[in-house]
Amino acid sequence: MSVHALQHYTNIKPHGGVLINREVSDTERESQLKRAIHLPTLVVSEWAISDLELIAIGGFSPLTGFMKQSDYLSVINKMRLENGLIWSIPITLPVSFDKASKYSIGQEIALIGTDNVIYGILKLEEKFLYDKKEEARLVYGTTDDAHPGVKKIYDQGEVYFAGPITLLNRPDHREFTSYFKDPVQTREMFAQLGWKTIVGFQTRNPVHRAHEYIQKIAMENVDGLLLNPLVGQTKSDDIPADIRMKSYEVLLDHYYPKDCVRLVIYPAAMRYAGPREAILHALVRKNYGCTHFIVGRDHAGVRDYYGTYEAQELISIYEREIGMTILKFEHSFYCKKCENMATAKTCPHLEEHHLHLSGTKVREMLKNGIKPPKEFSRPEVAEILINGLRDKVDYDD
Ligand code: ADX
Repeated sequence: MSVHALQHYTNIKPHGGVLINREVSDTERESQLKRAIHLPTLVVSEWAISDLELIAIGGFSPLTGFMKQSDYLSVINKMRLENGLIWSIPITLPVSFDKASKYSIGQEIALIGTDNVIYGILKLEEKFLYDKKEEARLVYGTTDDAHPGVKKIYDQGEVYFAGPITLLNRPDHREFTSYFKDPVQTREMFAQLGWKTIVGFQTRNPVHRAHEYIQKIAMENVDGLLLNPLVGQTKSDDIPADIRMKSYEVLLDHYYPKDCVRLVIYPAAMRYAGPREAILHALVRKNYGCTHFIVGRDHAGVRDYYGTYEAQELISIYEREIGMTILKFEHSFYCKKCENMATAKTCPHLEEHHLHLSGTKVREMLKNGIKPPKEFSRPEVAEILINGLRDKVDYDD
């Protein structure tokens, strides 16, 4: 394991200065795997495995493992790691109280999935209790268990295991493999493309016209767009990632210039932590080599837990420290009078002329085989979504 040799392809430095690599390869991996078979095992969730992978490939640089208590407390209270570096969301490994007592400090533990694959090794340096309500209040701004991120905290184990990790097996990204790149590879790709300024776009949704509008305004100012959809765990009524990926492909094929866009997956779980998650999303894209990052309306929000521009306000405070240019966009919509995409900043017409459709309404239309207006969603995209959702017998609104 070493610091990535190729880390300086783009000018922007990874968060903390060094792109972390906690994956072992070749003969080292073989021997570690043989050793891991004899270690005590801990079955961890799909969510924990996605965090493990992101730490290992450097997406969560400068983290080298699951957070210790000092970092955890500093992050939830001050939005900084103990060393003062900005970090907004705890990256932790929860374990139930009963299970936790079976492991001792100093021990190495093989982290296995429910599929019995050994994904990595944790060197257990600390176990600590934490206050679930306090974490929910500070990180999510609510203790309401109807919030999907808060519910996840309430449902998980009472103890956090902390320490450095090693990745031995990558999670299976199935049909997305060709869109999977490590941060070191996206940096290399940007260099090969000759891109010096890159705007990252986070999304957990299909790209509708409003998304396309803000992406394309951003593209006017940079060399390229990294369309970086989150494909890890999302709430059950979000459109599944495999369907979304097809919709991104068709959209890029028809409406984006080939040499200015790259589609790469972001294999993380969605927290729905609004403002704090916007900061995490930016930091990760910095690690992937982006110089710019888009924060639109209610970024990473869910229902009405956050104000429309709360994420923009919070990230603005830290923009300079993050070291990226944050491109902030007003709520965008199609205006029937302008016959154009617009925002309150650019459109003089009354609200009644604006096309607004809620996520719930759009999902309902798609499930019923109805295409939303072409001013809301490109027909090619709508068709993929309708067909995809029809094929998902288990899709439940
Ligand atoms: S998110 O949870 O990943 O933020 P979504 O995929 O809907 O949700 O949004 C992706 C990005 O587009 C976010 O920065 C969000 O703020 C922005 N966005 C989504 N819809 C709009 C809109 N109508 N106007 C402006 N920005 C938007």
